[in-house]
This record gives sequence, structure tokens and C-alpha cells, in this order.
Amino acid sequence: MSNILYKLSGVTQCYSDKTVLNLDDFTVSKGAIIGLAGHNGSGKSTLMRILAFLESPVSGEIIFDGKKIETADIQLRRKVTLLTQEPYLLKRTVAGNVAYGLELRGATHIESKVRESLSLVGLEPDIFMSRQWYELSGGEAQRVALAARLAINPMVLLLDEPTASLDRESTLLIHEAAVKVREKYGTTLVIVSHDYLWLEDVADKIITFSQGKIKN
Ligand SMILES: Nc1ncnc2c1ncn2[C@@H]1O[C@H](COP(=O)(O)OP(=O)(O)O)[C@@H](O)[C@H]1O
Ligand SMILES: [Mg+2]
Repeated sequence: MSNILYKLSGVTQCYSDKTVLNLDDFTVSKGAIIGLAGHNGSGKSTLMRILAFLESPVSGEIIFDGKKIETADIQLRRKVTLLTQEPYLLKRTVAGNVAYGLELRGATHIESKVRESLSLVGLEPDIFMSRQWYELSGGEAQRVALAARLAINPMVLLLDEPTASLDRESTLLIHEAAVKVREKYGTTLVIVSHDYLWLEDVADKIITFSQGKIKN
């Protein structure tokens, strides 16, 4: 069994004839926490969408968990989840938000999974479960969105600037949640952040991008 989860070779992405990503080789090991750094427009979010199987590169090869990916089907997409800077919450309670993905998948023991996920992101279940989506601070809303993703126990968690504009406490709690899910479930994480010190603390390794390429 290989320890490599993603292996991208010669992956390029273009938008209207402009090459925004050009990777000779990019690999992510199973259970790693990889940090991505680099200026705005260096291609980080583009790479994250490709890793999430939300878009396909114009050229190159992607091997995921030992299989060459031709088209991303729903089974594949469900193994990977992407959280962006602007958390999207459903117009429901916190419990309703965290339970949603579990309900879609026909999961059992939903309430205990909701509680566990909220605890992982530092939200006391008895206080937060019945809160409405509009009764949350920015940091709490982001952590609810993260809990909703943890609840479905993804194989890969992609966090694209998860702490941008958050308070110090939420930033710390997101760090803790990332480390805990890796410990508990062996989740692989790729995290983009402009906060280099925070990223250095949470990630095993930081890869810096410049104009769509890995900077050495
Ligand atoms: N959907 C899109 N259509 C056209 N251009 C895009 C699109 N998404 C990103 N870009 C461009 O691709 C480049 C890389 O963007 P992005 O991957 O968002 O970088 P980063 O996340 O590092 O800031 C930028 O020049 C951006 O304007
Ligand atoms: Mg971005």
C-alpha cells in the first residue's frame, strides 16, 4: 500500500488562455497536513478546487488513492470536502446544519455525531445545537461550517483561508480541530493561509506558490 494520497503530474489549468497553474509534480501523503502559501493570484484556490474534484485541469494526470482519475463521480467527491473563507450555512439551526450531510448520506446516530463534531471545533453542543444560523459570530459560523464537514468524516479536508478575518480564539480552535481530526481519523488536510506563523504551527510542511508554480 502506497502512502501517497494525491499525485499530480504535469497538471496545468488555464482560464481564457491564461495559464494559472502549472505543476510538474505535487504529492500529498496520507495523513499529512500540508500548508499552501503564496501571494494572491498564485493559483492556490485553483489547486484546491482541483484537489476537491470540483474542476478538472486542462492537462496532466491525477492519481488519487492509487487510482488514475478520469472523471470525478459523486463517490469520489464525497471523500473530499472543501471549506472556503466565506462559510455557507443553511438557514437552519446549528444542529440542522451539522446534521445535513449526515441526513443526505442516510447516516445513523446523527445526534451523537453532531455533538462530537461540535465539540471538535470547540463549540459546546448544549449551548450551540439549538442556535439559529444568524445567532453566531463570524468565527462561530466558520466553526459550524467546519463541524458540518467533520461530521461526514471525509478522507481529505481542504481548508482555503479558513481563518481569514477570524478572531484569535477561533483561529486557535481551527488549528486544534485540524490536528485532532488527523489524530483521530487519519484525515489528510491541505490548508491555504496568509497567516504564515499560524500555518507553520499547524502544518507538517509548507509549499509556497508563485505564479502557478511551486517555488523552491
Ligand atoms: N473561474 C475563474 N475564471 C477566470 N480566472 C480565474 C478563475 N479563478 C481564478 N482565476 C484566476 O486565476 C489566477 C489564480 O487564482 P487563484 O487560484 O484564486 O489564486 P490564489 O487562491 O492563490 O489567490 C488568478 O489570476 C485569478 O484571477
Ligand atoms: Mg485563493
